[in-house]
Amino acid sequence: MDCIGIVGFGRMGSAAAESYINAGYKVYGWNRSLEKVDKVYGVEKITRLKDLPSKCSLIMVFVSDDDASAQVLYGKDGLFSGSSSDTVILNASTISPIHSKLAYDISHELNINYLHTPIMGGPKTLVEMRSLILVDGDKNLFKLVEGDLKIISRERLYLGPPPTASVVKLILNSIAFTNAEILSEVISLAEAWDVNLDKLYEAASKTWLKCIFDKYMRRILSEDYPSSFRMRLAAKDLFYTTASGYYKDIHMPIISMVSQLYLHASSLGYSEDDYSRIFKIFKRK
Ligand SMILES: NC(=O)c1ccc[n+]([C@@H]2O[C@H](COP(=O)([O-])OP(=O)(O)OC[C@H]3O[C@@H](n4cnc5c(N)ncnc54)[C@H](OP(=O)(O)O)[C@@H]3O)[C@@H](O)[C@H]2O)c1
Repeated sequence: MDCIGIVGFGRMGSAAAESYINAGYKVYGWNRSLEKVDKVYGVEKITRLKDLPSKCSLIMVFVSDDDASAQVLYGKDGLFSGSSSDTVILNASTISPIHSKLAYDISHELNINYLHTPIMGGPKTLVEMRSLILVDGDKNLFKLVEGDLKIISRERLYLGPPPTASVVKLILNSIAFTNAEILSEVISLAEAWDVNLDKLYEAASKTWLKCIFDKYMRRILSEDYPSSFRMRLAAKDLFYTTASGYYKDIHMPIISMVSQLYLHASSLGYSEDDYSRIFKIFKRK
């Protein structure tokens, strides 16, 4: 396709819009706070969400959570209300399995082509075509749009029926956020015992734990790490993981505690900061 509609101009949606503009697509955009659309040069702003499907048949959604996703998909004057049988909606938001299934059910009832396509990787990886896109739902529909997804990814992985992509995405994110939290605890401990952090890294790097230190140590210790993934969204993903456990009678004591720690950090004023600021709640004054 040569055009795309982007819904949600936060960090991810703005980066995706920029990538599609750079790839020569005509990009139409809508955001709840409309002025954010103007920040990405070249995007044509659409003021009413339900008009977007008439501008371009391919639409990608990048919003915060289940509530935001429900509102933009099947809320009043949402995307579904303006869609036709030509429309293809790809939801790249990280959402819960319950909402994922509901969105699929409603789209089927309305005969709307819809896929959940959550993304592993942040805004920078979209622009650099390095993200991994997880996909579930109709495999033929996926094959139809895979070429368009290549603009923002290095790999696309089809996982099966819904809500597999949601479950896999939440599992992987929960492991990542829990590692960032554990590393924050132990770096604080090391500092309290006057351990040279270079030596700590050197020791870790001689073991399989190297990848965790490589991923998070500098990010945690950097005082001015730019906010790439908001603390509050990390708390949301962990919360959705534990909520998913509830529906299947799986208890997740560690993940639910880590979820509370991210929520605690959000309530302390780090809500908009990068999730690696979780370190701040352990750092000794
Ligand atoms: N950032 C990352 O590294 C990353 C990586 C992978 C996946 N994700 C996932 O991708 C999604 C977007 O993340 P992001 O980092 O771009 O988030 P973000 O910067 O916080 O942007 C959130 C977007 O959601 C919109 N939104 C929130 N509530 C809404 C509502 N009720 N109705 C309509 N729009 C609403 C916001 O609109 P306003 O501007 O009007 O508030 C904004 O456009 C999330 O599900 C996140 O978990 C993020």
